[in-house]
Amino acid sequence: MHNNSRRNFIKQSAIAGAGLVFAARGISNASLADSSTTFSLPALPYKYEELEPHIDALTMQIHHSKHHQAYVDNLNKALKDVTTTYKTIEEILKNISKHTAAVRNNGGGHYNHTLFWKLMKPNGGGTPTGSLSDAINTTFGDFEKMKQLFNDAAKSRFGSGWAWLIKNAEGKLEITSTPNQDNPLMDVAEKNGKPILALDVWEHAYYLKYQHKRADYVAAWWNVLNWDEAAKNFAA
Ligand SMILES: [Fe+2]
Repeated sequence: MHNNSRRNFIKQSAIAGAGLVFAARGISNASLADSSTTFSLPALPYKYEELEPHIDALTMQIHHSKHHQAYVDNLNKALKDVTTTYKTIEEILKNISKHTAAVRNNGGGHYNHTLFWKLMKPNGGGTPTGSLSDAINTTFGDFEKMKQLFNDAAKSRFGSGWAWLIKNAEGKLEITSTPNQDNPLMDVAEKNGKPILALDVWEHAYYLKYQHKRADYVAAWWNVLNWDEAAKNFAA
């Protein structure tokens, strides 16, 4: 295949609202080399201050408009050197071992935060319902036990990273954590599966309000959890 053809990027988002913009510039037989796709920062489904008092407005503003924006910008830059054709961000993540640290860190950063924003909402919290609740009870005994294990994963992740509730290839729920901006979709992850819950435990997610008290932030996060979104992740 000619190099120019291989440069053709067709990456369409499989996560609704992922902020992936498909720029169909020059998608034609004549000029495949001109085609490009850029990712963009997704809008939050609530205002920065609406997760108060559990997550403060300034943290949300900086986290979304600065940190997430930087992952998006740096991902777009890093992808300029990638010559493989991918259809989705998930495909990139599943093949992440073939790519640079810049693609891994920023691709993970974009995917993880997109998921994270949607998993929170004002007046969230409560307990899971329906088939997700059934699966949690079957796997962990009850919701409180799952919550305890998830909190342990979040608190014990050394340095920066994420805690996850995932559905593995067998359809079973598992709790795991990843360093940096890695996630369970990546082929380099310790445990693979589809994210159901995602919690950012980087200091940038909590330090302004909670300082060194990560455990307090983790406990507060359950009050803004959007279980409807978690149920969608589980059903998908
Ligand atoms: Fe973050």
